[in-house]
Amino acid sequence: MLLSGQWTFNFFNNPMLVPDEFYNQEMSEWDSIQVPNMWQMEGHGKLQYTDEGFPFPIDVPFVPTNNPTGAYQRTFTLGDGWDKQQTIIKFDGVETYFEVYVNGQYVGFSKGSRLTAEFDISEQVKVGKNLLSVRVMQWADSTYIEDQDMWWTAGIFRDVYLVGKKPVHVYDYTIRTDFDAQYQSATLSGSVVIENLQTAQASGFQLEYALYDGNQLISDGSVDNLAIEECHTATFAIDVTNPVHWTAENPHLYHLFLTLKDHAGTIIEIIPQRVGFRDIKVKDGLFYINNQYTMLHGVNRHDNDHLNGRAAGIDRVEKDLILMKQHNINSVRTAHYPNDPRFYEMCDIYGLFVMAETDVETHGFANVGDLSRITDDAEWENVFVDRIERQIHAQKNHPSIIMWSLGNESGYGCNIRAMCKAAKAIDDTRLVHYEEDRNAEVVDIVSTMYSRVQLMNYFGEQPMDKPRIICEYAHAMGNGPGGLTEYQNVFYKHNHIQGHFLWEWCDHGILEQDEKGRDVYKYGGDYGDYPNNYNFCMDGLVYSDQTPGPGLREYKQVICPVKVSVKDAENGLITVENKYWFSTLDDITLLVDIRAEGETLAQYQLSATNVKVGESCDLQVALPELDEREVFINVSVRKNSSTRYSVANSELGIFQFQIKENTAQLPTFTHTNSTALNVQEQRLEWIVEGYNFELTFSKISGQLTSWLSNGIEIIASSPKMNFFKPMIDNHKQEYEGLWEPAHLQIIEEHFRTLEVEQQNGCVIVTVNSIVAPPVLDFGMRCTYIYEIHSEGQVNLSLTGKKYGEYPHVIPVLGLDMGINNQFEQVEYYGRGPEENYLDSKQCNIIDVYQSTVTKMFENYPFPQNNGNRQDVRWASLVNRQGNGLFVKPEQPINLSAWHYTSEHLHEAQHINELEKSGYITLNLDHKLMGLGSNSWGSEVLDSYRVYMNDFQYALTLVPFSQANCRANYLAGQDFSLKTQTDQNIQENTPSMIGGDK
Ligand code: GAL
Ligand code: MG
Repeated sequence: MLLSGQWTFNFFNNPMLVPDEFYNQEMSEWDSIQVPNMWQMEGHGKLQYTDEGFPFPIDVPFVPTNNPTGAYQRTFTLGDGWDKQQTIIKFDGVETYFEVYVNGQYVGFSKGSRLTAEFDISEQVKVGKNLLSVRVMQWADSTYIEDQDMWWTAGIFRDVYLVGKKPVHVYDYTIRTDFDAQYQSATLSGSVVIENLQTAQASGFQLEYALYDGNQLISDGSVDNLAIEECHTATFAIDVTNPVHWTAENPHLYHLFLTLKDHAGTIIEIIPQRVGFRDIKVKDGLFYINNQYTMLHGVNRHDNDHLNGRAAGIDRVEKDLILMKQHNINSVRTAHYPNDPRFYEMCDIYGLFVMAETDVETHGFANVGDLSRITDDAEWENVFVDRIERQIHAQKNHPSIIMWSLGNESGYGCNIRAMCKAAKAIDDTRLVHYEEDRNAEVVDIVSTMYSRVQLMNYFGEQPMDKPRIICEYAHAMGNGPGGLTEYQNVFYKHNHIQGHFLWEWCDHGILEQDEKGRDVYKYGGDYGDYPNNYNFCMDGLVYSDQTPGPGLREYKQVICPVKVSVKDAENGLITVENKYWFSTLDDITLLVDIRAEGETLAQYQLSATNVKVGESCDLQVALPELDEREVFINVSVRKNSSTRYSVANSELGIFQFQIKENTAQLPTFTHTNSTALNVQEQRLEWIVEGYNFELTFSKISGQLTSWLSNGIEIIASSPKMNFFKPMIDNHKQEYEGLWEPAHLQIIEEHFRTLEVEQQNGCVIVTVNSIVAPPVLDFGMRCTYIYEIHSEGQVNLSLTGKKYGEYPHVIPVLGLDMGINNQFEQVEYYGRGPEENYLDSKQCNIIDVYQSTVTKMFENYPFPQNNGNRQDVRWASLVNRQGNGLFVKPEQPINLSAWHYTSEHLHEAQHINELEKSGYITLNLDHKLMGLGSNSWGSEVLDSYRVYMNDFQYALTLVPFSQANCRANYLAGQDFSLKTQTDQNIQENTPSMIGGDK
């Protein structure tokens, strides 16, 4: 009987303030609260976020004088059917300490916030109406081992329910599966503990068991004539020939039914249990699942909901698991506490290998340099051991769980050793993990967190005698993580490294509306909480509201179970490698698309049958006749069949290979109406005028201040070279250590010279400036050369020569400019469709894309640099009539465009602070530093760094209207105002520039 719902509630600052009547009377005057929920999410108490620090003075085992207390009450009515039943009340999660009272009588208390607690309340309940009162306190001595990096919250946050049992009933059962030496047949063994609460012996009982595969009965039998004094363990075994193995790739479940009958053959209870035939064994320093070498491509998952905190809701949990499966993830660590019991059931069903971690973390002691204080204090042994024992007993029958984890960041000591021993005593069929048993003295897995890629490689080269994983890496805070590919290459290179769990699955932001009704995701400090770890809780692949972010798409690609590479580009020979651990590629189709600047030249479907695990095969792609355009082979890997989490033909990954560069001559520009340029010098300006356009340069600043074309102003803020970008979380260390001290965030431009000359019918404006931070004596001497053609085209050459000393990395070598706010429609030939960076670009391929400035903005809850597109060969930004700006760089560039200024994106710290600037900031960057994941982990790798070195690059900028569309330009045709027919446009281009399609 589910008891979740609206309960009567009152909040107190101290447990002693709860009135005595609460335990035996209905408090009808009180408010109500939803169960399950955190009470902070309904306006009671305080929210605080710290990563490690205890939010009160350390004084073990004591807690603050004022201990926030929730008094919860409800009634429930039991029908006659409950008479003489054993009645158990179960709480799947209550933070932190709670006491249960039924009908005025004290039943007991529990700690272990994320562990199920159950109480036998048979003595206290009666048929009819019953009063349940639960007093919950936020702090307890157990807070000292529940110091995970997350919000401090409290309350009854998972379901509460009653379970009724007959006096003789199944108390516990354990199912295990053991394979024969060849891993063909297997034995399912069951051990069922039957309890008898009657005073007399129960005799003649019978336990029936039946194993089904779908509707098909595999085997059944019974243990007869059971005589049960107080307790009896019945065992049975079922031999199964060739069972389908359970794996994350094929989570095939059998169904076992346990039926308990009394001496008269009356059914007492039927227990359905899903069963997976699965084992895990370590051999020669590697673990094998069902005798197969396996690598865990994992994530760390917290329970978090943007509205209800840790009361995540089972629908949300399920969606998380579906998203994981859709993104090629095969493993999940329950960081850093047990989940809702249904989580494990769904992992069995969807297919995820689970590292089931228990509720232990004492990280706050690190702040006083004594991380192992209670972990190595034998007085605490029972507390530690209790947490792993309860966890294992509750979840031991799930095939998805392949290892137990003793907790997180609690140092090392006698209590960890005791936990490990206790775990093995209950369950010797799984591995045990604990990261801070550094040399795996007692646990089965060697584990580290945030080890850099070089170190992982070193670990791989020096295998230990136990398998290794990295239980956290690639901190996904804000824009990032970068560098997943390099990690993955090292993981693949060394068998010894068998698992990697990305930190972390989801942001922990709390959604609220500000006074103007705008959404804001709140983090540490936003509730007046102090101390706090600010936005460090926003570090997930998935945004707080469960929308997948770019990091998740990148991870999906990097761990794609099918890898396609090119063997011989010219002849169209590709290699397909099977990176599954248990499956062939028979269910895979490769969609091959041969593309020339956005146009499909040929399409094929290929399959790769009989490619076994770890093997590869070569496939031939017939190449069509190629013209002078650049050509790519794109290969989309599809899974043919539909699954519980995906429709048929879903994409698992995409690969791209260039087979030919562009060999076309650079087009020449002509304009049938062009007239000779007219240059005028005024007191403060130079004006260059041509047919239907006019450019103005300031003699004060040296900047291009206006560019009118067809009467439309293009420029909203002058083009300027720039060496700083809005800080991303993953560059915070560089920002605080290097950039801010050097004032890069307020870098200034100072004008030196401007020259105007005419050459071959062009006007050449040469501007010299310095771009440099105040206070210091280093910077860049910048030269802008604007070569203005009578057709309206401007070739802009940009040169930077550094002066002074700045040997450190910088965010960017680039140019930005403000352009007309209406130029919202974007088309570009470059890497997309989503944002991408040097060290995060595997899931984005080069093609022609249509988007808008608004859509290209990645709205990180903590605003930062975003939306970059790399390898851009050309781009247009136009208004809805097709008038705008066309950009053609000499070499591919980085492009991003925002409705916000760079300074503002840097300053703003919440999305509701963002104010549009009224124009589009267009970034046309030469070099942009990679992302890394150094918000808590790897620095940007050497090859993705940018330094303040001399540089030169060039862009052609063409203002155009709908008629002189890029198709003319690119085909090298007359750059004229001739109109194209619709059909013509469709043939030439996938879509019209700025077209309202
Ligand atoms: C780890 C820790 C995680 C989280 C992460 C940083 O050290 O285990 O719980 O704090 O760092 O986000
Ligand atoms: Mg921690």
